[in-house]
Amino acid sequence: MSTKALVVTPNDLGIYDREADHWWRPVGPFATLRHLNPPRFRFFDRFIPSWTGLRVLDLGCGGGLTAEVLAARGSCVIGVDRSLPSLRVARRHAAGDLTIGYAGSDAGALALADGSVDVVVCVDVLEHVPSVPQVLAECARVLKPGGWLLFDTINRTWLARMVVVWVLEHMVRTIPRGTHDWRMFITPAEMRGHLDHAGFTDLTLRGFDVVGRRRDGSLDVHFNDNTAITYIGAARKLETR
Ligand SMILES: C[S@@+](CC[C@H](N)C(=O)[O-])C[C@H]1O[C@@H](n2cnc3c(N)ncnc32)[C@H](O)[C@@H]1O
Repeated sequence: MSTKALVVTPNDLGIYDREADHWWRPVGPFATLRHLNPPRFRFFDRFIPSWTGLRVLDLGCGGGLTAEVLAARGSCVIGVDRSLPSLRVARRHAAGDLTIGYAGSDAGALALADGSVDVVVCVDVLEHVPSVPQVLAECARVLKPGGWLLFDTINRTWLARMVVVWVLEHMVRTIPRGTHDWRMFITPAEMRGHLDHAGFTDLTLRGFDVVGRRRDGSLDVHFNDNTAITYIGAARKLETR
């Protein structure tokens, strides 16, 4: 590896605008995200036994990969993202599905009423935002008391930096270079503190360990105690807030 490959690159959110046409392509920068949904929902379904009729916010929805999974489960979905080109792709792909509405907004300042959603899903987003406490405070504000926040994100370890930035961005190049700034990764201890401060309780946090990829692209994922790279979680908004 050249020394140039080791230089820290900033978190380039423009990637989601420039690469928006790739959201639904089977090969490309977002193909892995799509394959992450089945294992994610194996975990999330433990907390939400029936999604039917729930009002669910998909925060940082990108091109709508997860929003459409939620709609297929019977939820009424609000997809929010700061990338307007991604939202255009999401709307086009949903092709008039009236159970999904998309809106352009920053995750730290949502145009949604207090206590207006049952569940917030925020996957692969928190490691990109400038203020995690502010985004979690917004999640808590818009959730009904007792509502669930479901998330996954990346731990700030040397191993995560090596795998996600050096290997996946710089060597294998399955993720566009500059997508991640490892300094914005979040340790589980920080996440616990932020969630506690925002008024969440009953946190379950598990390692989200991708151990293999099958020929059809699907991922073999284990939920375990190994949070060294990525982890997945669920927390409930306090009933009294
Ligand atoms: C890695 S993608 C994940 C997309 C989607 N959640 C998924 O897993 O398919 C990160 C998304 O977060 C969005 N994002 C990043 N920072 C944001 C912010 N502050 N407010 C709203 N969206 C944001 C990006 O535009 C991008 O679409």
